[in-house]
Amino acid sequence: MSSSVIVGTQWGDEGKGKIIDIMAEKADVVVRSSGGNNAGHTVVHGNEVYKLHLLPSGILYPETLCLIGSGVVVDPAVLLEEITNMNKRGVTCDNLRIDARADIIMPWHRLLDRLSEEFKAKQTGVNIGTTGRGIGPCYTDKAERIGIRMYDLVHPEVLKKKIKETGELKNLIITKVYGGEACDLDAIYEEYKAYGEKLAKYMADASVIAFEAYQAGKKVLFEGAQATLLDIDFGTYPFVTSSHPIAGGACVGTGIGPKLIDEVIGVGKSYTTRVGNGPFPTELFDETGDLIRERGGEYGTTTGRPRRTGWFDAVIMRHAVRVNGLTSLAINKFDTLAGIPVLKVCTAYKTTDGEILKDFPVTLEELAKCSPIYEEIEGYEGDLSGCRSFEELPEKAQAYVKRLEELCGCPIKILGIGPGRDQIIVR
Ligand code: GDP
Ligand code: IMO
Ligand code: MG
Repeated sequence: MSSSVIVGTQWGDEGKGKIIDIMAEKADVVVRSSGGNNAGHTVVHGNEVYKLHLLPSGILYPETLCLIGSGVVVDPAVLLEEITNMNKRGVTCDNLRIDARADIIMPWHRLLDRLSEEFKAKQTGVNIGTTGRGIGPCYTDKAERIGIRMYDLVHPEVLKKKIKETGELKNLIITKVYGGEACDLDAIYEEYKAYGEKLAKYMADASVIAFEAYQAGKKVLFEGAQATLLDIDFGTYPFVTSSHPIAGGACVGTGIGPKLIDEVIGVGKSYTTRVGNGPFPTELFDETGDLIRERGGEYGTTTGRPRRTGWFDAVIMRHAVRVNGLTSLAINKFDTLAGIPVLKVCTAYKTTDGEILKDFPVTLEELAKCSPIYEEIEGYEGDLSGCRSFEELPEKAQAYVKRLEELCGCPIKILGIGPGRDQIIVR
């Protein structure tokens, strides 16, 4: 196989960074193709923990080219800070390239993210619970075709003109609609011009690089950010992000055709988590939920918010298998569930009308009528983190894995049993 897409199957934070890092060692190119610094991908090398937000998770391997594709929204201040921090830890980041088409997150995007969330909370009592990084407003401008792009950032005259045009419009919205404080456009120009000077050396055409690498028989990895249930179309809209984290997004956000994708690996957890607001059918509000949160370290990599926790949901996983065309699954965190006497798995939903649903409902209105149907599976015990083959796992853990596989209709080829890069079992 020479190209693999790695996607999140649940609501994010499934351990995509870990899987990418492991696969990146043998890859020639790693591409991020959607989202921005709303993502937080953890890579653990021995005692060193790296929390990556914009840098692709292959960045630790100097021979692996790391691309930020056109579908990513780039906050230049965050990216430069990440590069500086990595430099301090001995990682050069000379292997980074950023597509000239990538849209840039401007200060008004972060401000509008906050103002819009505050407005929604006041108006309806519930907001999305975004990461506050300006992601939605940046993609909005892209769709409206008034965005500022990587190319503009390194061309000061274009940058000045675009900051004036778009900035004036944004200031009207900030002050007249939200009653907020206008952005200082001259100061923003100076700030962003300086970012452009620093980032110019990374600018490239990621589509050409990825295509030529693939044609030359090299290994290309597409690193998904966010996850299927956060997809703007196939997630729990409107409680989603503003991009396409599903496998198809890898093509659109890089500029390569679907026939160049050889395999799609869905990353999940042996249970489910979610950060931010929105429905979560198998959510736990009891001691088991707290235990999973504490033992699994379920606190946001980007915002530090406690993650909501719940049982594994096979309805969601089947949705992810279909929407992404998954060829296999990598399920992390089997170690976290050890010691829980009885594990529950949601096999289907039952509606208030008594109907049994095997597929994830299309609308939140339908989902609100659903409650999970659970199957109980005997729990397993022991320290799994040292196991290196499937047969070494306790028999009850093996049975849990096999049952998940059956319910999802997709082989689980990688099992996570700890955060370290060697703490996996490949079947
Ligand atoms: P991502 O956004 O999908 O890359 O995932 P995050 O990095 O946000 O969150 C996953 C968390 O789980 C990180 O703290 C990882 O170090 C950790 N992790 C990944 N796989 C495993 C595993 O198999 N077991 C345990 N205990 N932790 C894991
Ligand atoms: P990784 O790549 C988990 C969630 C936010 C919020 C919603 C919209 O680390 O898995 P946004 O800032 O994107 O407009 O927020 O999406 N969200 C994530 N949750 N992991 C992520 O990324 C996320 N990126 C966004 O919490 O509910
Ligand atoms: Mg994360």
